[in-house]
Amino acid sequence: MNNQTLITGRNLHRHYQRGSETVRALDGVDIDVRAGESVCILGPSGSGKTTLINLLSALDAPTSGELIIGGRRVDGLAEHELVNIRRGLLGYVFQQFHLIPTLTVAENIALPLLFLGRRVDPADTQRVLEAVGLADRAGHRPNELSGGQMQRVAIGRALMIKPRVLIADEPTGNLDRATGEAIFDLFQTTVSEQGVALVLTTHNLALAERCDRTLTLADGKIVAP
Ligand SMILES: Nc1ncnc2c1ncn2[C@@H]1O[C@H](COP(=O)(O)OP(=O)(O)O)[C@@H](O)[C@H]1O
Ligand SMILES: [Mg+2]
Repeated sequence: MNNQTLITGRNLHRHYQRGSETVRALDGVDIDVRAGESVCILGPSGSGKTTLINLLSALDAPTSGELIIGGRRVDGLAEHELVNIRRGLLGYVFQQFHLIPTLTVAENIALPLLFLGRRVDPADTQRVLEAVGLADRAGHRPNELSGGQMQRVAIGRALMIKPRVLIADEPTGNLDRATGEAIFDLFQTTVSEQGVALVLTTHNLALAERCDRTLTLADGKIVAP
């Protein structure tokens, strides 16, 4: 079970048209993500990290190449079909948190289940609140939280659907160093205790070294680290 491949990408290309110019944001990337491992994507600004993360999250489809997520072929699917790939499998942590200011921490965490039309079991919410260290903040609103706490809510929200893969684009990018490390610890604990796979991007080499594997991108290609 633990070596099961959850995401396979082969010769992934994602090209953008900018006027008459073709931007090869991804230019032939191979990637595998297995259950229970943490994979870090490194690379300078503009190297294609967000583009790759968006493909692995099924938020976007490749221009060409083969992409299999949770055993299902994703390349060639229309946007509305991508939603069904994400459902129940992928938990996406937004860098800008995307919390709803009028909802409490507990309600923000439960939101994905409401979107999916599923009943919210308060015991599930409690379990996630405890996992992300916010049990004493359940009734607070986002504007009463620090940046690190908001990121914990965003991670809790991704965990609520019990994903197999947790995906985060620069999750510590907006946080100071100590808070970023604490959030990274939370990701690591989640991987080891809940057996989910983790794919994240960062500029922070020290954090990257704590992942099981790192992939370094340059100009849309994977290069030796
Ligand atoms: N929607 C888009 N339209 C045109 N070019 C884009 C778009 N998104 C990203 N790019 C270009 O693709 C390249 C990779 O971008 P990105 O994946 O955001 O890199 P990173 O996350 O590593 O900073 C950059 O040259 C960027 O300008
Ligand atoms: Mg980016």
